[in-house]
Amino acid sequence: MKIKRRPEKPSGKLGVLMPGMGAVATTFIAGVEAVRQGIASPVGSLTQMGTIRLGKRTENRVPMIREFVPLAELDDLVFGGWDIFEDDCYEAACKAGVLERGLLDRIRPFLQGIRPMKAVFDQKYVKKLSGTWVKKGKNWFDLAGQLMEDIRRFREENGCDRLVMVWCASTEIFMKPTAVHQNIAAFEKAMKDNSPEIAPSMVYAYAAIKSGVPFANGAPNLTSDIPALMDLAHELEVPICGKDFKTGQTLMKTILAPGLKARMIGLSGWFSTNILGNRDGEVLDDPESFKTKEESKLSVLEHILQPSLYPELYKNFYHKVRINYYPPRGDNKEGWDNIDIFGWLGYPMQIKVDFLCRDSILAAPIVLDLALFMDLAGRIGLRGIQEWLSFYFKSPQHAPQLYPEHDLFIQLMKLKNTLRFIQGEDLITHLGQEYYD
Ligand SMILES: NC(=O)c1ccc[n+]([C@@H]2O[C@H](COP(=O)([O-])OP(=O)(O)OC[C@H]3O[C@@H](n4cnc5c(N)ncnc54)[C@H](O)[C@@H]3O)[C@@H](O)[C@H]2O)c1
Repeated sequence: MKIKRRPEKPSGKLGVLMPGMGAVATTFIAGVEAVRQGIASPVGSLTQMGTIRLGKRTENRVPMIREFVPLAELDDLVFGGWDIFEDDCYEAACKAGVLERGLLDRIRPFLQGIRPMKAVFDQKYVKKLSGTWVKKGKNWFDLAGQLMEDIRRFREENGCDRLVMVWCASTEIFMKPTAVHQNIAAFEKAMKDNSPEIAPSMVYAYAAIKSGVPFANGAPNLTSDIPALMDLAHELEVPICGKDFKTGQTLMKTILAPGLKARMIGLSGWFSTNILGNRDGEVLDDPESFKTKEESKLSVLEHILQPSLYPELYKNFYHKVRINYYPPRGDNKEGWDNIDIFGWLGYPMQIKVDFLCRDSILAAPIVLDLALFMDLAGRIGLRGIQEWLSFYFKSPQHAPQLYPEHDLFIQLMKLKNTLRFIQGEDLITHLGQEYYD
């Protein structure tokens, strides 16, 4: 990791641009405003509530993360984005049904002032949605140009010093990397040819990177996880990261599985099912969008448990993930896990988890942290994939020669050590032998 510039206290406004202004995006925006007005607390946000230990345990140096690294202040954030529906953020938040009307009404004029720009969209990639607030263009390349113009105009009209983009739009159909994704020349040609192998999310990512705007992907779509865009980000010195916010059931999985493995407890099966009734649930009711999500959710256990290293404990465990669209629940998902484990001498045991979670309540602080950390990464010249932000993702984007790190606790250690490294502090190894010598 090369740091080109030491971080300094940022000045000026940071614009957070979101393709997709649905449940997650509006819960994030409304939440930041509520915190700024002193109405609520930013619970779940590491940048706002987390601390970091520095030096030896005897030194008692434990600053807040936001005081240790110079992050943008909440007061300096401005918001914008794109959607296929014209609703302003107040209307969209009311429809999403995550936050109570009472809270939304207290910040209503603020939310009504945020209106989405016209989206780049094609129903081929999100079968369950159709909207009218959509750009027209000759081809993907032309549409990317229109997005870059939106970005430029947003920056100017809002007097932004810096921008970041966080994909909060719907999950697209499952796509695999092909020849057109291998380098930027092939990718740009495919955009000009209007190739079906280019998805709208790739067009946003391209526009962001070309505009020098850090890009984070909150959905499991392929998007910027292709050599063409990784190379472009590297070349233009733009940070990128993804994929798929780690919330709900997968968050629980990456908390529980490392614990089982740490104690060498075996696993014979893990069955996960969910009911949810928000628009995301409806989109995921389409098998092609669900396939994208399923891939993202399934890989987690395999990587944490490492069956090739521990065949006796983890070879051939059965893993199934189901998402059922059930409108009455709205955004308040319920996720059940049945975990069949075995202990000493192979004796079987079971764990049952029933998680009554609120998806967007868990996702909103992730959007905030990613926006602030990606801005930091951009300011100090970190380029390409930001693997230290794996902590926030179900399918962390990683260098092609590596396997992803899914264990939440290793991810946290990596994130905090990266912050120590950025600030020139000693990394913490947890050896601690010196206290006894
Ligand atoms: N909530 C969570 O816990 C969570 C966790 C991980 C990932 N995600 C992902 O985050 C994304 C957003 O989730 P949500 O609950 O806010 O969904 P949502 O359906 O409420 O919002 C998505 C919005 O994106 C818009 N959209 C779709 N395609 C678009 C495009 N090409 N350009 C611009 N807008 C577009 C839709 O109209 C919709 O308003 C989904 O992909 C979801 O899978 C959410």
